[in-house]
Amino acid sequence: SASTAAASRNESFATLEDKDRNFFREVLGDSNVITDTDALQPLNEDWMGKYAGKSKLALRPKSTEQVSKVLAYCNDRRLAIVPQGGNTGLVGGSIPLFDEVILLTAGLNQVISFDAVSGTLVCQAGCILEHLDSQVSAQGFTMPLDLGAKGSCQIGGNVSTNAGGLRLLRYGSLHGSVLGIEAVLADGTVVDALQTLRKDNTGYDLKQLFIGSEGTLGVVTAVSLLCPPRSSSVHVCYLAVPDFATTQKVFVKARQRLGEILSAFEFFDQQALDLTLKHLEGIRNPLPDTQTPFYLVVETSGSNEEHDNEKLQSFLEEVMEEEMVLDGTIAQDSAQIAGIWGIREGISVALKHAGPVYKYDLSIPVAEMYDLVEETRQRMAHLPVEVVGYGHLGDGNLHLNVSCQKYDDEILRHIEPFVYEWTAARRGSISAEHGLGQMKAECIRYTKPQPVVDLMLQVKNTFDPNGILNPYKVLPQVMAVAQ
Ligand code: FAD
Ligand code: MLT
Ligand code: ZN
Repeated sequence: SASTAAASRNESFATLEDKDRNFFREVLGDSNVITDTDALQPLNEDWMGKYAGKSKLALRPKSTEQVSKVLAYCNDRRLAIVPQGGNTGLVGGSIPLFDEVILLTAGLNQVISFDAVSGTLVCQAGCILEHLDSQVSAQGFTMPLDLGAKGSCQIGGNVSTNAGGLRLLRYGSLHGSVLGIEAVLADGTVVDALQTLRKDNTGYDLKQLFIGSEGTLGVVTAVSLLCPPRSSSVHVCYLAVPDFATTQKVFVKARQRLGEILSAFEFFDQQALDLTLKHLEGIRNPLPDTQTPFYLVVETSGSNEEHDNEKLQSFLEEVMEEEMVLDGTIAQDSAQIAGIWGIREGISVALKHAGPVYKYDLSIPVAEMYDLVEETRQRMAHLPVEVVGYGHLGDGNLHLNVSCQKYDDEILRHIEPFVYEWTAARRGSISAEHGLGQMKAECIRYTKPQPVVDLMLQVKNTFDPNGILNPYKVLPQVMAVAQ
């Protein structure tokens, strides 16, 4: 099987009746109450085709007030709810396990305001990340996060997963750039913490709890966040490196030499590159004559074309002279920049084309990070799988992926719990940026001690006493039921 999620439905939840559908039609209008099997199918499936839900109803509210009415009703009726944004999540968080009602946030798609002095954007949760980036770009700003799924993922989904992405190295996590949140609790209470202040020390910072809570504490309906100025000068180089230890030397050098203009430091292995060149059309290998185990994408973003270019050139000369880098190339124009990013961002798409894939998203001390890929490869040498490693090296975030021909328990047994135990032994995290979702709901103990998990269960109980919000996700099932 594909998942390790809880196997049985919580029978304290009600099942849908005609009166429920009628209520939702009254509140939302017929066209926003989806019961058609064909229309429900893509909403019951994740991006990888790994998780399949059995929901018979999806709702598309268009305002915070409608979300509040829907949740208050579901809470009274004990109907379980799964919030769904762009449905690009990689841990099955937005997919129901059983007959949970899907609450789509796509209808909440308005930009509320943008302050072109501070760069503060206030918008509804269903706005698509790439659309927001184009809008703020017109005023000289950029979104503080960027990821391969930008064309479909929504800002509410980004906040709810605490998405990391390609520029966390530069702009930090959403815990820093989100200034405010409006969320609706299970009982319909609207929590208006939609401030736009940089500084606010009045008690507990509750908005932080919604960041990364994966729809288990409330439905995020609006967000305010700080957008940095858009860099007028962007450069990208692509480097071939002989071994993993050297990638870290290059990283240290990049931070020293590029300083404040360094904006991304990504890595992938030869296996990831080969897979991407094989499965994606239109991808050009920037260094066709160089075969090496590791490749880096290093980006600078600054405001002085000449100065930034000079800095990158001399960095490149230095790492080549010192033989840290076997070969390297600097993109000459925006098409070449897009080409290099196309490889890095294309890896997950290529893996999807290659077939079923077991994905692990881990925080591990960088020095040991790639040992895990090698050990996993050795353990699985006798199986028909391809083990690839890539990720956000500058953030200590490894993506370990095992690509195979079908989801198979025999394969899974060779990966889990090995990968989790290996990570726990190094005080790493079993989720760096994708979240726990349904994939890892039973696994939080590998990263968090029991008293911490107990406190989380108490928070969950306070926010959602009937447990209707995204059940079977994030927290262990047995314990959640026992509470
Ligand atoms: P969904 O998938 O719809 O939902 C994700 C979770 O959030 C679910 O648990 C859902 O219930 C909950 N949720 C969604 N919206 C709300 C809301 N308004 N209120 C409450 N809960 C909500 N992730 C990274 O961190 N970094 C990457 O670099 C990255 N790259 C990716 C590249 C590709 C090609 C793909 C397919 C995915 C990638 N992801 C990455 C994963 C994914 O895009 C992120 O997790 C993203 O933030 C999910 O946003 P979404 O709108 O699609 O949310
Ligand atoms: C990435 O960094 O490419 C994303 O997190 C997606 C993935 O892990 O495949
Ligand atoms: Zn990632």
